[in-house]
Amino acid sequence: NKVVLAYSGGLDTSVIVRWLQETYGCEVVTFTADIGQGEEVEPARAKAEALGVKEIYIDDLREEFARDYVFPMFRANAIYEGEYLLGTSIARPLIAKRLIEIANETGADAISHGATGKGNDQVRFELGAYALKPGVKVIAPWREWDLTSRETLMAYCEKHNIPVDFNKKKKSPYSMDANLLHISYEGGVLEEPWAEAEEDMWRWSVSPENAPDAPEYIEVSFEKGDIVAINGEAMSPATVMETLNTLGGKHGIGRLDIVENRYVGMKSRGCYETPAGTIMIKAHRAIESITLDREVAHLKDSLMPKYAELVYNGYWWSPERIMLQKAIDESQTNVNGDVRLKLYKGSVSAVGRRSEQSLFDEKIATFEDDAGAYDQKDAEGFIKLNALRMRIAAQKGRKLF
Ligand code: ARG
Ligand code: SIN
Repeated sequence: NKVVLAYSGGLDTSVIVRWLQETYGCEVVTFTADIGQGEEVEPARAKAEALGVKEIYIDDLREEFARDYVFPMFRANAIYEGEYLLGTSIARPLIAKRLIEIANETGADAISHGATGKGNDQVRFELGAYALKPGVKVIAPWREWDLTSRETLMAYCEKHNIPVDFNKKKKSPYSMDANLLHISYEGGVLEEPWAEAEEDMWRWSVSPENAPDAPEYIEVSFEKGDIVAINGEAMSPATVMETLNTLGGKHGIGRLDIVENRYVGMKSRGCYETPAGTIMIKAHRAIESITLDREVAHLKDSLMPKYAELVYNGYWWSPERIMLQKAIDESQTNVNGDVRLKLYKGSVSAVGRRSEQSLFDEKIATFEDDAGAYDQKDAEGFIKLNALRMRIAAQKGRKLF
């Protein structure tokens, strides 16, 4: 039998290749994806070959990731626990889908991943895998083996002659995960929630203090809730994200330091850099502010925490996420137009918005003479009827305090 492994080419997943071969005596198929993590994926081929892997998949999934996962999620303005833009969470369902496609192509009956038994990622990979291939077998080495420290892992490498250059790479003190949407840092000094992260931890952005003293203005254009152009230049979803990551990083935008609740029940401290995502959500809210009906906007906002929780907890491939997505996508029909943004020392502000489908009516909203567009007398009855139940209660002597 055969197992498809989500393989990064790094030390941990290289050990997993050997461990799967030894423990299960099975053929290992590796799958490595470029989802915009900013590291070459091709080197994974030679490393897998050196471990005796015969079927090696290396895919560029950047456009698919941006178009079919990140952009739909941003239509919902999804934020977990008021802060987290779900950078790691949203990549897992795509990896799960590719693992299952490759399992089907190669006739494998199992999948494997390098997520620990303590985290969210195991849940996301496996819920996705079961939703797409109900009978699949899942092997999660971190839940099974006893290689629980760096030392035992290194000893395993030596004993099973896992090529030494895997060990050479200077090991970062943090557990990191990166893709087009973010880079995350966990562990190391961050395990003390009172301790501030060291400045040199951050890899994608300058600190706001060191950002340029002059603000930079950009214009982004939306079609049906998605950014399709920057400064008038049409761009693919992945290019939009790469461009905004560069701009945001340059201005120190999108750093986050939080303690979050993992699905398994523990609290976890993490730092994130999400430059493009931070700009995208600000711009999207600005274009929605003039193109969405109030009740649609508020209903959408009330569904957002649920949607974010589904993504965080790994339920991307669930019927309820798909149901919510259809409602959200329907709401975006008229979310077209341009937003002008100011990037300055860690902040992004919307300073202008316009749309052919704008619901903003200056004739009605004006503080000047509106020439009868709005009859202020209408407001009197509107307020009195809304107050009716409170007046009745007061007349009947109900106490409020
Ligand atoms: N805590 C974040 C999340 O659950 C980031 C997880 C990072 N994953 C990793 N394998 N380093 O989405
Ligand atoms: C892991 O445990 O593998 C990373 C952290 C997480 O999944 O939450």
